[in-house]
Amino acid sequence: MPKVIRLGLTYNDVLLVPKKTPVASRRDILLKTKLSRHIELNTPIVSANQDTVTESAMAIAMAREGGFGIIHRFMTIDQEAEEVRKVKRWSHVVIDDPYTLPQSSTLGELLRSREQFGVTSFLIVDERGKLTGIVTARDTVFEDNPATPIAKIMTPKSKLVTAGPTTTNDEAKRILHQHRIEKLPLIDDDGRPVGLITMQDILKREKFPAAAKDKKGRLLVGAAIGVKDDYLERAAALLHAGADALVLDIAHGHSDLMLNAIREVRKKFGDVELIAGNVATAAGAADLVKAGVDAVKVGVGPGAACTTRMVTGAGVPQLTAIMDCAAVAMKHGIPIIADGGIQTSGDVTKALAAGASSVMCGNLLAGTDESPGSLVTRAGRKVKVFRGMASRAAAERRAIREQRQTDDTTFNEMVPEGVESVVPYRGSARDIIHQLVGGLRSGMSYCGSRTIDELHEKAEFIQITEAGWKESLPHDAEVTS
Ligand code: XMP
Repeated sequence: MPKVIRLGLTYNDVLLVPKKTPVASRRDILLKTKLSRHIELNTPIVSANQDTVTESAMAIAMAREGGFGIIHRFMTIDQEAEEVRKVKRWSHVVIDDPYTLPQSSTLGELLRSREQFGVTSFLIVDERGKLTGIVTARDTVFEDNPATPIAKIMTPKSKLVTAGPTTTNDEAKRILHQHRIEKLPLIDDDGRPVGLITMQDILKREKFPAAAKDKKGRLLVGAAIGVKDDYLERAAALLHAGADALVLDIAHGHSDLMLNAIREVRKKFGDVELIAGNVATAAGAADLVKAGVDAVKVGVGPGAACTTRMVTGAGVPQLTAIMDCAAVAMKHGIPIIADGGIQTSGDVTKALAAGASSVMCGNLLAGTDESPGSLVTRAGRKVKVFRGMASRAAAERRAIREQRQTDDTTFNEMVPEGVESVVPYRGSARDIIHQLVGGLRSGMSYCGSRTIDELHEKAEFIQITEAGWKESLPHDAEVTS
């Protein structure tokens, strides 16, 4: 029998009390934060690992803006690993394992390799592995005979500009500019290629100065795994593809299954960056922290496509869940990711003020160009499909992607805890992030905080009534824009 019933609050139950602020301009606010113990972000926003939210295009958009995307796991291991690879290939400081082809190859073999690896340029090497030339997109425009030897098409080494293995970014930029070239192969003393620097990569990096990057200048990306069946095999493939963090993600993360999975992953993969969830209580967070995770994902039932609370009766209103979990995790320096229920930029500020270090968004990002799935028109409105991962539709879609045989009865025993819906088309993910970040900066200024750490310390909530909430919305006027 429950003895004491605590009050649980969520975003719309509270407001942040305005404080005297030292902030003169929103630009003075620093949004640097921690996604997990070892991963820093410049923007505290993470895209949800849902099949209608995050594949490579969304993860690229998130990381370019300084946030983070987590590839969902509702596909085969190979498919998920390929999505990770696409993010990691998006930009490099130095491509340290450039694709090469033997000089004896033909145009046909080159075209097949292009298809297979998704790149257009290849360094050409002789039988001793020494650089003999390069083939780029330009070289093959007017070539159509698949039997043509590569050696006839390539730009030979004698006409190539190359540099040493330790060439810095700035030096590379100067050389590329001076010779008006696009690609600079790096070769060792024996003439073997050891890297490639491209103008395209340099320009991409300059366009996105706040991007979340690894040591090699590639965008950061996370990938979800489960806690059963193929999860260890999946983890191995994702790490091999370059995933920066693994996300052990199940609906009820405070479970023996989860704790066992954390142990197994640690045993097999050592100190990989490990995010686990979801939990919604101090005890849940404490157990995950004790098990050795690098971040705790918090949220049971607040998500826009979730019906967990309706179906099971279980859950904790999200603001209380964040505060309870943060109180435990912060003591150990483990960041909290507030997952689900974010409807406005004000909610982002409240989630961070409650102790989270980042927020995860599904619904808000699902209607953007970068989410998987195509735009459809319904009753004259452009929309995109958005579904909960515990919905029947998600299970059906997964079976299709994994090419599993199903019939009408396959999913009849399922008790879904999520729904499928459509959300309005919202343009680019970048625009959404811009709005969220702009509102967050203002919100932090109202709280007198220049950094997220200061926000954690200084924020003061006030509980409001329904009348207070109504007063907070636009009212007594017809909204026109
Ligand atoms: P928002 O509100 O941003 O929330 O769309 C995203 C989060 O919702 C969770 N999620 C689910 N929860 N049943 C649930 O109870 C589901 O089918 C479901 N699908 C997603 C998940 O934590 C996600 O990040």
